[in-house]
Amino acid sequence: MTDPNLAIVVLAAGQGTRMKSATPKLLHHLAGVPIVSHVLATARELNPAVVLAVVRHERDQVADVISAHLPAAVIVEQDHVPGTGRAVEQAVADLPPDFSGDVLVLNGDVPLLDADTLRELVERHRDSGAAATVLSSIVPDATGYGRIVRTPTGALDRIVEHQDATAAELSIDEINAGVYVFGVNALRDQLANLSTDNAQGEKYLTDVIGLLRRAGSEVAAVPVDESWKVEGINDRAQLSEAAARLNALIVRGWQLNGVTVHDPATTWIDLTVTLANDVTVLPGTQLKGATTVARDAVIGPDTTLTDCEVGEGASVRRADATLAVIGARASVGPFAYLRPGTVLDEDGKIGTFVETKNSRIGPGSKVPHLSYVGDTTIGRGVNLGAGAIAANYDDLTKHRTQIGDEVHTGAHNVFVAPVRIGDGAKTGAGAVIRKDVPAVALALSVAPQRNIEGWVEKNRPGTAAAEVARRARSAQEADDGSQRQDG
Ligand code: UD1
Ligand code: CA
Repeated sequence: MTDPNLAIVVLAAGQGTRMKSATPKLLHHLAGVPIVSHVLATARELNPAVVLAVVRHERDQVADVISAHLPAAVIVEQDHVPGTGRAVEQAVADLPPDFSGDVLVLNGDVPLLDADTLRELVERHRDSGAAATVLSSIVPDATGYGRIVRTPTGALDRIVEHQDATAAELSIDEINAGVYVFGVNALRDQLANLSTDNAQGEKYLTDVIGLLRRAGSEVAAVPVDESWKVEGINDRAQLSEAAARLNALIVRGWQLNGVTVHDPATTWIDLTVTLANDVTVLPGTQLKGATTVARDAVIGPDTTLTDCEVGEGASVRRADATLAVIGARASVGPFAYLRPGTVLDEDGKIGTFVETKNSRIGPGSKVPHLSYVGDTTIGRGVNLGAGAIAANYDDLTKHRTQIGDEVHTGAHNVFVAPVRIGDGAKTGAGAVIRKDVPAVALALSVAPQRNIEGWVEKNRPGTAAAEVARRARSAQEADDGSQRQDG
């Protein structure tokens, strides 16, 4: 149910200079999802009447990601006046004129905050009747954060930014989490009074708190239970810490859901991945994007799957796969590279040092060793000998290799595409298949072997091999002589 009295503003207009990145800060990923999208997902869980997202730096890129994640979000452009206060001022101007409820402001760079914490904050705000309620946190290292300044009796007095704080204020360990609920009218009134007279020359949203209090309104700060939930991401060190924190939660969630994870510290699972009961994930494994794994499959060690579908009971060891489908009970690796468009049907095998791309390997078919299978369709019950190469590229364009059912190819074959091998056919070792092979035929393309007797002694005189040849010849001659005498 929508809460008609709740509007959410997501602040996403900052420059993110501390990331030192060509990518906008809020579009860096955490568990496979852009930072800002985590915040949008939490916002949506609260069912607000409206979500407004304020953008400015790299406006198009950021707005595209926001709209893709939450199409209903209203995109608000921040003008040249910098600061979180200005961002909220412009968002509030875009609220429906008759809106008289509460405005929940979320920093776009605080991705681990959960909806339950926010629900409680909104409830506290509404129960107390305060004009503003701030989420705070006691942190071990408050560097960079705004500090919560309380009166001697413990009431919230104001927020001071790190850059503007006195030495005494810097020693305060309660920080502003960047999450606030305001009554819209009180907020509107005080936004108009913000100045840029501070260390950063910005309109600080945080100044609204002190202004409200000076105007006689009640304001409150509510500490969050666990400080990691409100950690802001400003640089890449904080990004990796938050990513590790979130990953630990994701791994634990799957463990409690029936997935065996041997080593949570080296297992990375995106938020967008789905795992069934009794999946086993071995150390050094990354599961990314839209990957799904069915029950009883074993993934890893040392495996990266991106946007893959893995069937029941399959095994994938030391492999790297993207946009691949791995069928039930199929086996992949160790040391396999599955590129986009690979479909390995049930009970199939892609073995050691095998690369595949845009290919279907039919039920029970095996590509066990040292092969490249690109743009190839393979039927059922096929075995490709070691060292098979689908030569799919003729310098101009790609062609397909089509292999029927129950085909067995010899070791070290080259299939020069476009080419077809019919059902039940066989090929000899070292064959270069340039022409179609009919069903159930044997294809040989290599010239018959010729042995030239005595070649080494004649052509490599003085070598150890020639000496071996000479001794063998003498022994043979002596043997022939004695046989002649006996006879
Ligand atoms: C802000 C708070 C600080 C708090 C901290 C919590 C202010 C003035 N300070 O500091 O008290 O402890 O968050 O993480 O609010 N943004 C805009 N427009 C702007 C500037 C920023 O939309 O003009 C957005 C950013 O994209 C970001 C968020 O607001 O998502 C916070 O901005 P940031 O510059 O990171 O603020 P902090 O210095 O971390
Ligand atoms: Ca920040």
